[in-house]
Amino acid sequence: MKIGTPKEIFNGEARVAMTPESARHLQKLGYDCAIETGAGAAAGFSDATYVEAGVEIIKTPAALWKSVDIVAKVRQPSEVELKRMTSGKTLISFFNPAGNEAGMELAKSKGANVIAMEMVPRISRAQKMDALSSMANIAGYRAVIEAGNNFGRFFTGQITAAGKVPPAKVLVVGAGVAGLAAVGTSTSLGAITLAFDVRPEVAEQVESMGAEFVYLDFEEDQADGAATGGYAAVSSPEFRAAQLAKFLELAPEVDIVITTALIPNREAPELWTEEMVAAMKPGSVIVDLAAEKGGNCKLTVMDEKIVTENGVTIIGYTDFPSRMAAQASTLYATNIRHMVTDLTPEKDGQINHNMEDDVIRGATVTFEKEITFPPPPPKVQAIAAKPKEVVPELTAEEKRAAEAAAFKAATKQQVTLLGVGAVLMLLVGLVAPASFMQHFIVFVLACFVGFQVIWGVAHSLHTPLMAVTNAISSIIILGALMQIGSGSFLVILLASLSIFMAGINIFGGFLVTRRMLAMFQKS
Ligand code: NAI
Repeated sequence: MKIGTPKEIFNGEARVAMTPESARHLQKLGYDCAIETGAGAAAGFSDATYVEAGVEIIKTPAALWKSVDIVAKVRQPSEVELKRMTSGKTLISFFNPAGNEAGMELAKSKGANVIAMEMVPRISRAQKMDALSSMANIAGYRAVIEAGNNFGRFFTGQITAAGKVPPAKVLVVGAGVAGLAAVGTSTSLGAITLAFDVRPEVAEQVESMGAEFVYLDFEEDQADGAATGGYAAVSSPEFRAAQLAKFLELAPEVDIVITTALIPNREAPELWTEEMVAAMKPGSVIVDLAAEKGGNCKLTVMDEKIVTENGVTIIGYTDFPSRMAAQASTLYATNIRHMVTDLTPEKDGQINHNMEDDVIRGATVTFEKEITFPPPPPKVQAIAAKPKEVVPELTAEEKRAAEAAAFKAATKQQVTLLGVGAVLMLLVGLVAPASFMQHFIVFVLACFVGFQVIWGVAHSLHTPLMAVTNAISSIIILGALMQIGSGSFLVILLASLSIFMAGINIFGGFLVTRRMLAMFQKS
């Protein structure tokens, strides 16, 4: 079969759904690849680079749509494009099925099978095909860069000969994929970064990136506003009021606000009011990533940059990924080729549209002249959806009783273990020579003490623990070297084995530590 990518016709769209690199992978799956002349030019991929990768260049869009079996593209197809689909052909693209009834009807009538990339379920196995996340990641990064471009000061604080520069203060509202990317970019540029989300489970992620999570002084568990699938649900009016009060308090302090708050299939919640904009300092910048869905900021104008009377710049662009077309195309083309890989289990260049597969089923919106949208919920649990454990509230009395019972059980277990150990020692003592027993007792006690010590060490301290075990391994090697000349074959064998195994621990430990340290080094 042949996979083809036309030039995007949406005004200003610079991304392309197939790169020379992704084409090489698709060819390994058994497909022939084709693009329309100049399809990758705006993203920095010339026709020549495609030809080098073995891709056929087709002159006109009509010829391309006609000659291929699978069309891979970025933007929701236009009516003209959809009319070019014929029975049995597959289209892989963003499709906006929830707002594109007409498109689905047209695809159905043409007998085209459509895979909508925004419908890829957010489950672990599908992360490599999650084009929404790839694009949101870029949008979050670019939002900070765009804000910096419109902000008249440094992000990082500096003390210079010419005076002291305070660091910029950035607030990110909504810590999903885009929000976390914005947090990461902002902290790495040196700004003081605050982030808020209705899902409290992201607080840890925000804090691990060096930002501060904004907690509300509110009784309701923020998790009540969180729903399944890593997405949020609508929060209660009281929660919203507390949230807005907090934002109003923060407005005069923050220099840059990046809003990314979104609940799927809904208009974006209005979280940054006119009053908040008015309270901001002149020169401040708001980047509203939710502009396409109505905006989180009351004053956002979609696809425009405005400056308010009090000097606050509000950016409502909806094409951030396209503004970084080379990067966005590389990631999107990779998502597409992973989708095609799943559609080609035999790697024989033939599509096997398996509707039993959760990911393929979830993303398919029309199949064999049927509209298959919306899909049933995936059988596999979404990444972030952890069912909340219902722990019954205990009274102080009950808690004490439970603790006492647990202590009793643990003591009983230890006494039983010690008893069994003592009996075993006694049995060994009856048959073994005295010199052996001396070593054996030291060995057993070492095992016992070692177990008790290591078992009690918190997970976070396992790295220093590993370093200490290197020292223990050195002691083992010294002991083995002292024994190696004893003359007994068995002792020499055991000593050699000890040296070998302790050696693995030492060198392996150093290698792992090196790798871990490398992860913390900025290249
Ligand atoms: P996501 O669903 O992963 O994240 C949205 C986050 O907002 C979630 O963490 C959610 O808990 C949070 N949220 C929902 N309601 C909230 C509230 N009332 N207060 C605080 N947080 C709230 O979505 P993702 O992928 O991060 O995308 C974020 C936004 O960026 C979306 O609006 C998306 O359409 C937009 N986007 C914009 C682009 C552009 O060029 N402007 C490009 C790509 C994405």
